[in-house]
Amino acid sequence: MKNLKKKIIVLASGSGTNLQAVIDAIKTNEIENAEISMVISNKQDAFALKRAEKEGIHTCFVNPKEFSDNIQYDKKLIEIISKYNPDLIVLAGYTRILTNQIINSFKNKIINIHPSLLPAFGGKGMYSHKVHEAVLKSKVKESGCTVHFVTENIDAGPVIAQKKVPVTDGDTVKTLSERVLKEEHKLLVEAIKKIIFPSRHFVYNT
Ligand code: GRF
Repeated sequence: MKNLKKKIIVLASGSGTNLQAVIDAIKTNEIENAEISMVISNKQDAFALKRAEKEGIHTCFVNPKEFSDNIQYDKKLIEIISKYNPDLIVLAGYTRILTNQIINSFKNKIINIHPSLLPAFGGKGMYSHKVHEAVLKSKVKESGCTVHFVTENIDAGPVIAQKKVPVTDGDTVKTLSERVLKEEHKLLVEAIKKIIFPSRHFVYNT
């Protein structure tokens, strides 16, 4: 039986450095036997789309203005994504909250990377710089990043992988976010490897 490539769909809204880490890991075969079938964004100017186009990866801008609400928007996402029958859907800096219909359409197949040690500093409204601001305000001495399965409760799905990062005196949102982001890139690749080839060394409770 021909060993078919594992198909990954990435949803991204921003600069796409996490997407780039996955692209590079596939190119160097660190993530074996996989391909990114499509990158979808809710932002037409997302640099993540440019990164995908440069690699010849299909892209799709789904314009929120064309849909009356989240339900209709996610119906469109389900229609687009289902065509590929992906093995994995990766939220890599995706700013929309998924509705239950799409989460249930791709049960245990959607993962997200979050820039804190969940459950700390997670949940509604906790994204990007807001996370790091809260971490600094709390005076904790360590932060980090988490890859988890996406479930109906925001940032509360089963954790797949986490990496701690020190918080140093004098850290700013910029210095902390850069330190965390560097680890995110490695963690996301590790998490994808674990999930798409579970037999190799990983068992997870979903
Ligand atoms: C990352 O910090 C990620 O944790 C958060 O959004 C940011 C995405 O960065 N969800 P990029 O677009 O991958 O560079």
